[in-house]
Amino acid sequence: KPDPIDMAKYVSALRALDYVQDGMRIGLGTGSTAAWMVRGLGERVRRDGLRVTGVPTSSRTASLARECGIQVITLEDAKWLDLTIDGADEFDPGLGLIKGGGGALLQEKIVATASDMMVVITDSSKAVDTLGAFPLPVEVIPFGWQTTKALIEESLIGMDVAGRQVTLRLNRDAPYRTDEGNLILDLHLRRIGNARQLSLMLNQIPGVVENGLFLDICDVLITGEADGGVEVHD
Ligand code: A5P
Repeated sequence: KPDPIDMAKYVSALRALDYVQDGMRIGLGTGSTAAWMVRGLGERVRRDGLRVTGVPTSSRTASLARECGIQVITLEDAKWLDLTIDGADEFDPGLGLIKGGGGALLQEKIVATASDMMVVITDSSKAVDTLGAFPLPVEVIPFGWQTTKALIEESLIGMDVAGRQVTLRLNRDAPYRTDEGNLILDLHLRRIGNARQLSLMLNQIPGVVENGLFLDICDVLITGEADGGVEVHD
């Protein structure tokens, strides 16, 4: 059972399991909210004999899923997924998201895009009118990353954003490395006026692998409250 701080994440994660049916291939998200979902799913596999296979979006989630007794397969083996359940760092009224605070945005976007449905589990503290208060993660390959960073900074000048600082994500004193061995640049934009334009611009820069804007991908968004209340937006 969660402590009170995690209650909002816990109730949201459990509600998302209503979308799970026997035999499904499910994308398993990354982060503390998604971890509650994986634990809950594992309990249903063990307790109720639910038969599902999971495609994890990170090495962390893969280990947790196995610990919880969920059969883990690769996306190559699954080919297509029925459902992905994942967390988010920020969401807007149109169900646009910023993801990647946990560093797993690349696998998360590939897995969510390969799914018939994406259910996002959050708490109401992550709601914003306009995306951008949460720094936007951008995954870049290590080769020439300073050049990639400079190109991003230059391209931001023409964009409708309120801040333009770009920082290399660190893990203690060393650069943070993703599961793919890449780096993450965090874009401190404060307000993203045109998320679609920004996403297209970023992904056109050589060296950029993917960005943390998830637009037109989320189908259902569930927000939990610390008092146990849940709201479903679709
Ligand atoms: C992982 O890379 C992220 O996209 C997570 O989905 C996001 O950081 C949410 O994490 P929490 O559920 O821990 O807030």
